[in-house]
Amino acid sequence: MADRSKSGYLDRKEARRIQKENRDTLKKLERSRKRKKIPESEYVTTMKDPANAVEFDDLHTFFYTDAGVVKSVDGVSFDVPKGKVVGVVGESGCGKSVTSLSLMQLLQRPQGQVTGGQIRLNLGDKAVDVTKMPEREMQRLRGNYISMIFQEPMTSLNPVFRIGAQVDEVIALHDTKGLSKAGIAERTIEMLDMVGIANSKGVYSMYPHELSGGMRQRVMIAMALACSPSIIIADEPTTALDVTIQAQILDLLAGLKDKINSSIMLITHDLGVIAQMADYVVVMYAGKVVEKGTAADIFEHPSHPYTIGLMASKPVVGKRAERLYSIPGKVPNPVNMPKYCYFRDRCEKKLPGCSQGYPCEYSLSETHKVSCRLWENGSTADDGGES
Ligand SMILES: Nc1ncnc2c1ncn2[C@@H]1O[C@H](COP(=O)(O)OP(=O)(O)OP(=O)(O)O)[C@@H](O)[C@H]1O
Ligand SMILES: [Mg+2]
Repeated sequence: MADRSKSGYLDRKEARRIQKENRDTLKKLERSRKRKKIPESEYVTTMKDPANAVEFDDLHTFFYTDAGVVKSVDGVSFDVPKGKVVGVVGESGCGKSVTSLSLMQLLQRPQGQVTGGQIRLNLGDKAVDVTKMPEREMQRLRGNYISMIFQEPMTSLNPVFRIGAQVDEVIALHDTKGLSKAGIAERTIEMLDMVGIANSKGVYSMYPHELSGGMRQRVMIAMALACSPSIIIADEPTTALDVTIQAQILDLLAGLKDKINSSIMLITHDLGVIAQMADYVVVMYAGKVVEKGTAADIFEHPSHPYTIGLMASKPVVGKRAERLYSIPGKVPNPVNMPKYCYFRDRCEKKLPGCSQGYPCEYSLSETHKVSCRLWENGSTADDGGES
């Protein structure tokens, strides 16, 4: 590999080598995916625990770019139990959205590819591995079983169509009851009512630009929930909103979840939102899960130095601090990850052993797992880490 650390640039020969390698790998992967008849035996699987709605099992999702392979998700495993909210936290670029897009199979292909692991989806009578599913089968699941609320409603709503037409389209596409046109419109208005839009009939014939940010986000939620999905992925559903609307939207989501008895995968970098909503928490760092457990495990006993840093960087009402804590250093280059713990170079508690390979996962309890050598012997090492 060329030494790009000095200049920051790839030389021409190296760039050509990467391009050729990418071309070869992607050709192989795409050929396998685009086969006309993929036998059911390739993607029908069994859940590890039937009480789970989704199981991510050693998921690897890579992007083959001209600068090299970006290992956005590099061996992620966690479960989303039925009827529960799983919060996924981590700083920008750690792979939260890519994990959820892998579940929806909405990765930007051909560059974005799931190269390993499974995502098992519980369909009730059977389970499927969505990473191996043919596109046509996957289309049937999106909306009906899994649906996604995107972060930025304006990029997902079409500005030239009226709200009603856009929600109608979603309902018609997934309709199994053979509803008439009027029946679909009625259902749309019912959905708009359900997400708390007061003037639902008026909004039905408005364009997206005529709505406020909060109303647009509600329309997105209405669209996502139109077909009562079993799994809702909410990717930063409230980041663009002010706190009062944020609280309303979260209440709405929690209420709707109970009404249609679905599970939520809630992605956010706001720990307050996680504390309010989540039953389980998954903490990601640079494409890996560094800690996971119940909300009580994570909030009361944060155990990975990164999680501890995240908690410390959250402002607390009533507690004055000169400066808010920030985790020093930056995330390693995703194209060139180190061979040791990815957090080591920023870690205040690092041990000499931390430079030897990536740490394995240690169990602190049945639900609480952490990937950090401080827990190698079941308890934290003495204070003074390596300076
Ligand atoms: N289409 C793409 N092509 C190349 N790299 C990509 C692509 N999409 C995502 N990535 C890379 O994958 C990594 C994870 O991105 P992801 O969008 O999952 O981050 P995130 O955790 O959702 O961050 P944020 O909190 O900012 O939304 C990043 O390093 C990003 O640069
Ligand atoms: Mg994201």
